[in-house]
Amino acid sequence: MDLRIQENKQRVAEDFSEFFKELCSTGEEVHIALSGGSTPKIVFDQLASEFGADIDWSKVNLYWGDERCVPPSDDESNYKMTVEHLLSKITIPEANIFRILGEDDPEKEAKRYTNVLRDNLPALNGIPCFDLVILGMGDDGHTASIFPHQIELWEMPESCKVATHPESGQKRITITGKVINAAKTVAFLVTGAGKKEKVSAIINEREDYKKFPASLVAPKNGKLIWFLDQDAAAGL
Ligand code: 6PG
Repeated sequence: MDLRIQENKQRVAEDFSEFFKELCSTGEEVHIALSGGSTPKIVFDQLASEFGADIDWSKVNLYWGDERCVPPSDDESNYKMTVEHLLSKITIPEANIFRILGEDDPEKEAKRYTNVLRDNLPALNGIPCFDLVILGMGDDGHTASIFPHQIELWEMPESCKVATHPESGQKRITITGKVINAAKTVAFLVTGAGKKEKVSAIINEREDYKKFPASLVAPKNGKLIWFLDQDAAAGL
């Protein structure tokens, strides 16, 4: 596990953008799962402005680790956020963008997206293998859209499942632990004082840390890198 701690969100965005650009500079096809949340928003802005023209996006295939079950035009949509902060600012083939259809029936879409991953990603032991999975972490220790009250979704045999937000009841599509932990690299983008307590519990393996889904992220044959600001890392 690597910890990359920067003084503030902007510096985290700069650090991660350099990491992302290197990962996309091999000339090989790369398959990347994006995350929603506030930190990725800043990261996407930085990525687009700093390296938008430097990256050969024709080799970059973008997926989502989770999506809210809303239309792509909805302000809640992770896809909409990504269009606003990244996709509208770069030149990437439409065929390289594998959107989760939030507007469709959740169970049907979870099955469809499971097949999208099967049909488009290299597989390791029959499990779709991302080059990079980008994750955020909620104040409650959730990651992707696997929340503590549904932590059993982590172990499900399917690649994608329907989840439910604990407060709003909003349905979500999420990739499961087997896909996350099959990735070559997982990057946690976690910033802000609200994350301090969970980051400390998970990284220091303290108390009941295993009840937080984010604690289950442990790529079997890959790297886990935490991109943190000082506020989120204050408990380490
Ligand atoms: C989502 C994200 C979710 C997010 C965390 C952290 O769809 O909301 O995938 O897992 O990463 O909630 O969000 P913040 O970075 O905004 O705290």
